[in-house]
Amino acid sequence: MSLFKKKSTVSNETIKYGAKLITVKEPKSVISEQFRTIRTNISFMGIDHPIKTLAFTSANISEGKSTVTDNVAVVWANSGKRVLLIDADLRRPTSHQTFNVSNQEGLTTILTSEAAEMDITNMIKQTSVENLSILTAGPIPPNPSELLNSRRMQALIASIKDSYDVVILDVPPILAVSDTQALVSQIDGVVLVVKMGQTEKAGLKRSVELLKLAHANILGYVMNDVGRNGDSAYGYGYGYGYGYGYGYSDKSK
Ligand SMILES: Nc1ncnc2c1ncn2[C@@H]1O[C@H](COP(=O)(O)OP(=O)(O)O)[C@@H](O)[C@H]1O
Ligand SMILES: [Mg+2]
Repeated sequence: MSLFKKKSTVSNETIKYGAKLITVKEPKSVISEQFRTIRTNISFMGIDHPIKTLAFTSANISEGKSTVTDNVAVVWANSGKRVLLIDADLRRPTSHQTFNVSNQEGLTTILTSEAAEMDITNMIKQTSVENLSILTAGPIPPNPSELLNSRRMQALIASIKDSYDVVILDVPPILAVSDTQALVSQIDGVVLVVKMGQTEKAGLKRSVELLKLAHANILGYVMNDVGRNGDSAYGYGYGYGYGYGYGYSDKSK
């Protein structure tokens, strides 16, 4: 008998078709407003040390990371800030589909290049959203963990962040793989996406522990209210519910 009810629904929809950009399609909707609240709350957390580099992650795959990351990136760009979105989920990249740009070259091209100096500006693409640029994942590599934890990745973030107001990363989930352990300590903050009715309590707790061990600055969490209403949750404006909570880590003790 398992202690926690498992209701896992892994979907490959965003890999095939991209994430739903409600903030582009329905910018005045309640959900878009909730994404703006998430953005505002994250900015508030950086009063003393502005949050310039930020990643969204989750315990497992298919919990809404990409959907949340992409929509938050859109509303951030809408606020007039120069935003770079980096698709660092090298196992399940989706952002090129979401923003309909080529993924022939991208992050993995930069990370695997043997050139000491590289002009990365032509790897970065402007999206149809004003102020929002994107670095897609690039070809899927055999060794994502090694690449994301490499010094080259750290150097890339360090060199790129001054060209933007904020750099937002879509990173792999915490529990299954060790892709992001070194990476999360190099960025200003991490936000956990929690899928209501799917993310297990124990998994969430373990994710927080692992993030802490990796010296991540956990900014809070986004409750992604998928699934509570069954399939109807997939319609816009119904079943979506993004909330933002501070200090998950305190509650988890
Ligand atoms: N709030 C939501 N309401 C309805 N469907 C959602 C919501 N958030 C995510 N989804 C769907 O759940 C699936 C997984 O989302 P995705 O953003 O790709 O997760 P991840 O990046 O964590 O793997 C996709 O099919 C996506 O459309
Ligand atoms: Mg994803």
